[in-house]
Amino acid sequence: MFQKDLLERKRILITGGGTGLGKAAAQRFLELGAELYICGRRQEVLAATAQELRQTTGGKIYARPCDVRDPAAVEAMIAAIWAEGPLDVLMNNAAGNFLARTEELSLGAFQSVIGIVLMGTLHTTMACGRRWLAAGRGGVVLNVSTTYTTTGSAYVVPSAVAKAGMQALTRSLAVEWGNRGIRMNAIAPGPIPTEGAFSRLLARPELEVDAKKRNPLGRFGTMEEFANLAAFLISDGAGYINGEVVTMDGGEWLQGAGEFTALGRELTEKEWEMMRPKKPAPKPA
Ligand code: HXC
Ligand code: NAP
Repeated sequence: MFQKDLLERKRILITGGGTGLGKAAAQRFLELGAELYICGRRQEVLAATAQELRQTTGGKIYARPCDVRDPAAVEAMIAAIWAEGPLDVLMNNAAGNFLARTEELSLGAFQSVIGIVLMGTLHTTMACGRRWLAAGRGGVVLNVSTTYTTTGSAYVVPSAVAKAGMQALTRSLAVEWGNRGIRMNAIAPGPIPTEGAFSRLLARPELEVDAKKRNPLGRFGTMEEFANLAAFLISDGAGYINGEVVTMDGGEWLQGAGEFTALGRELTEKEWEMMRPKKPAPKPA
């Protein structure tokens, strides 16, 4: 899909890059010539991913354990990376989420998810952004959001609140920092099977069948589709895309929003017949 040197010499940090979508993006970016840093809380997971991707791609990838909720830890990580050379791209992908009735959530539950998704994104973005601005050089930020930021979503309220904030941050800084060479965009993926997301959000495997039925394309997204979109958005070829949130969900959220979509799906052939005008529309020649 892309020329092999699309991301040659680009130095990239992916938060939460040890698993799931972050790992898939890391692999794709390495295949396209980038030099990678991945961070997360679990050292052993990061080390295993770095070793695996080094072997499969032959690329340069370094593991940096870091809890993005901790501003001092983020600052130390970014300083250590910068000591080896400035980053070109920051991908804020780390997240926390779970399905819960909101009235049952403790303050700690809210703080945990908002701390990772919103504050974590803020910490890394400020640490990189300030360095880019001070050096008068450009940079690219890609944030991984969700499709329920505009509508909100029941049962994942801490995540909805935090991801909506993340999108506001994306659009605000795209404007504030754009004239100094920093681009900020986001991806809003629909459901893509990963252990991290599906183990926390699908209580029963059978619910996958219903989830696919709700999607106009009748399937989940794939890691490859996600990684390719991410590679495009961070590449110089997408240089005029700034402040955009690109939805990749097979049309799922629009299906949920359409007033008559669900009603239309319920109608029988007989009922459709009753709804038709007496004079039928002309048939194509
Ligand atoms: C209610 C919960 C809970 C649950 C944890 N808590 N799980 N409350 N229901 N299922 C509460 C705890 O009681 C605690 O409250 C507080 O949250 C922190 O929990 P800890 O386990 O101590 O925190 P920690 O070990 O840091 O774990 C963070 C986490 C966990 C967010 C809770 O799930 C995690 O590590 N997640 C990372 C990966 C992840 O979530 N991936 C999915 C991303 S998918 P107290 O009051 O005791 O402090 C996604 C989009 C999906 O984001 C969209 C799909 C279409
Ligand atoms: P995942 O595998 O659970 O990824 C989450 C990653 O974040 C993990 O590697 C985790 O590593 C890291 N992380 C969590 N808390 C952290 C912290 N405090 N500091 C640093 N790293 C932390 O789930 P995923 O499905 O790939 O999700 C990736 C992104 O896609 C998330 O932003 C998610 O919201 C978004 N998304 C996913 C889907 C989907 O269907 N999969 C849909 C929409 C959006 P550690 O546990 O080691 O810290």
